[in-house]
Amino acid sequence: MIVRQLTCRSAIHSHLYARLRKTPPGSQDMARPSSDLAAFREIFSRAKNIAILTGAGVSAESGVPTFRGAGGYWRKWQAQELATPEAFSRNPSRVWEFYHYRREVMLTKKPNPAHLAIAECEERLSKQGRNVTVVTQNIDELHRRAGSKHILELHGSLFRTRCMSCGHEDANYNSPICAALEGKGAPDPNTNDAQIPVQDLPRCEQGSCSGLLRPAVVWFGETLDSDVLTGAEKVLDSCDLCLVVGTSSIVYPAAMFAPQVAGRGVPVAEFNMEDTPATMRFKFHFQGPCGTTLPPALAEEH
Ligand code: OAD
Repeated sequence: MIVRQLTCRSAIHSHLYARLRKTPPGSQDMARPSSDLAAFREIFSRAKNIAILTGAGVSAESGVPTFRGAGGYWRKWQAQELATPEAFSRNPSRVWEFYHYRREVMLTKKPNPAHLAIAECEERLSKQGRNVTVVTQNIDELHRRAGSKHILELHGSLFRTRCMSCGHEDANYNSPICAALEGKGAPDPNTNDAQIPVQDLPRCEQGSCSGLLRPAVVWFGETLDSDVLTGAEKVLDSCDLCLVVGTSSIVYPAAMFAPQVAGRGVPVAEFNMEDTPATMRFKFHFQGPCGTTLPPALAEEH
């Protein structure tokens, strides 16, 4: 059963993390995952349904800071402290400054060779009747901008809003998203809160609603969208190859996905700068920046 709430490995779901770390049965003398690219390519050439699970690391080479590395702070806070419903109800101005900053940064970034290799692979394989689906934890839309078509955004998007009053959800690429946020959101730890009055924060424009808007992203402690989650479960249940790219594999439920796929005997290949708590469960591990390791792994055969 998949836990449907977004959680970190601390707190109530630590038992799941423990489960993930527990040595799999009979694996006491388990070999490290292979880094044999030819062996991966052989499996890749036969795969019909490929699931690609991505996290912040896939966007790192586009200049987007990851969550848990250096640069994971905005002012004095980590994302986990601001990306919560409690933080938003306590201080909507601060949380909007944080998301405004992230939106504005993203508008200056471009997809990198890893995003492009994934998109190109999907297009090429679709002509052969083979499927590639991206299941991403990222909210930056870089897969979409690279040209990927089948994408499930588990944690929503920076460029969508949801009304706190009427629930209406919409795409929103305005820069700035509202006049009061113009020039605000500086990440420096000495910056003071802008303390924008709530009526000047982004507001709903549906009819006469004018309710407070929030970013349509999944915050810690919130439930993932059930359609997106069901879609992801379907993709992961039916894939015959899974790639797990640039994720620390510690935020649930996404952290369970690739180990579950590996548990049904399907080859899983991890592309990461380092080992993760899930690495030893996988058939392949390709260490290094995925902008370098992924393109040759997914390239056309000659
Ligand atoms: P993390 O910041 O936890 O992990 C990033 C992973 O990418 C780490 O394992 C790095 O080793 C790896 N990495 C960094 N640069 C890389 C590169 N160039 N190539 C390959 N790998 C690289 O990010 P996520 O796992 O995505 O949730 O975090 C999951 C969720 O936790 C996020 O969606 C976010 C966060 O808090 C929300 O904001 C709701």
